[in-house]
Amino acid sequence: MTIFYFTSTGNCLAVAKKIGGNLVSIPQVIDLPDLHFKDNVIGLIFPVYGFGMPKMVRKFLERATWEADYSFAIGTYGNLPGAAMVDVQKFAKKYGQHFDYAESLLMVDNYLPGFDMNDQIAKLPEKHIDENLSRIIADIQNCRRLDAAAGPVWKALTAVVKSGENLFMNGKQGQRYMISQNCTQCGICAKICPAGNITVTDTVMFKSQCEGCLGCVHICPQNAIHMKNEKSISRWRNPDVSLNEIITANNRQKGNTK
Ligand SMILES: Cc1cc2nc3c(=O)[nH]c(=O)nc-3n(C[C@H](O)[C@H](O)[C@H](O)COP(=O)(O)O)c2cc1C
Ligand code: SF4
Ligand code: SF4
Repeated sequence: MTIFYFTSTGNCLAVAKKIGGNLVSIPQVIDLPDLHFKDNVIGLIFPVYGFGMPKMVRKFLERATWEADYSFAIGTYGNLPGAAMVDVQKFAKKYGQHFDYAESLLMVDNYLPGFDMNDQIAKLPEKHIDENLSRIIADIQNCRRLDAAAGPVWKALTAVVKSGENLFMNGKQGQRYMISQNCTQCGICAKICPAGNITVTDTVMFKSQCEGCLGCVHICPQNAIHMKNEKSISRWRNPDVSLNEIITANNRQKGNTK
């Protein structure tokens, strides 16, 4: 089994690790000229962004082809998935591929402009993540087929959210973040950025390929990156995933010490 995943704060990687198999981080393969893969089972795990997929996951699906006996997609989300799973199945089909199974999994919502991370952490017990993930794992082991469904209201809402998002997700979101004096220029934000959008010299600089994943904001060890509209000072990293695992997954600047 090969699982392709995208993660900023570790939820998707934690899920991928629990399912197992050969785990491949999408930022590490997105620039490869050949994206053809072959395995008995192929999976995709992504965080739901604005009721849909992150830009890089869409880009991956536009180019990737695979041969597999069974394929699945899981979208992790924090509050409402909208029609994200309908979207991923439709999108794959548009590019000549398909997912036999598409399911979403409720986890911590890392969208800081919307949610206080302390509240999110307090709500963890009521999300029943382990039970829901066990059910999904059993489904995958049994090669269950599942087409995602969403009513017309969700589909319409998803279209509205996505069109708004296209306006704001222009790749320059990071340039609006504020760096506090706590910054030690350690360079970790540059290493955990899945888009290779950050350079650290005497200052932290954001280019214009930001995915808006908020990884740098959450993972900075000094809590030195802030958003004007963040709902809490508290940050989130999935406790089942280490900082080094996120660096290994997302570092696009191999060989760079900073
Ligand atoms: C830009 C952005 C948009 C998001 N949009 C949604 C959303 O529409 N619905 C939702 O329930 N969660 C949303 N989330 C929360 C993430 O989907 C959720 O926290 C996910 O599990 C994060 O996975 P990761 O830790 O692997 O990055 C959003 C998060 C970000 C950063
Ligand atoms: S991770 Fe934080 S402390 Fe390190 S360089 Fe980036 S902003 Fe500064
Ligand atoms: S700059 Fe920050 S928010 Fe933008 S893609 Fe990189 S880690 Fe994510």
